[in-house]
Amino acid sequence: MSDTPTLFTARTEPEPLQVDAWSHEPLLLSLEMGGANWPSSCRSGSCRTCIGQLQSGRVRYTMEWPGLTPEEHAQGYVLPCVAHPCTDVVLRQGY
Ligand code: FES
Repeated sequence: MSDTPTLFTARTEPEPLQVDAWSHEPLLLSLEMGGANWPSSCRSGSCRTCIGQLQSGRVRYTMEWPGLTPEEHAQGYVLPCVAHPCTDVVLRQGY
């Protein structure tokens, strides 16, 4: 993967918002910078307060394995505080 930051867009549900999402920044930071009212606590991928489900798009993690089960991972659940976008994404807040 290239080290050059890439700009994507992130859209949120149910709060209809579209924000800039840089590939080198956690999605949570991009959501907050864009004015999203997104819950968070630990900001390190363990408490799951920030959990959401991808409706489209892909993310990657810089940590070995964030606090999600393989089943949740397969169902598209993500932890935006430690997830970086690889594409444009649509993310639904909550579990
Ligand atoms: S804020 Fe705790 S897992 Fe994201």
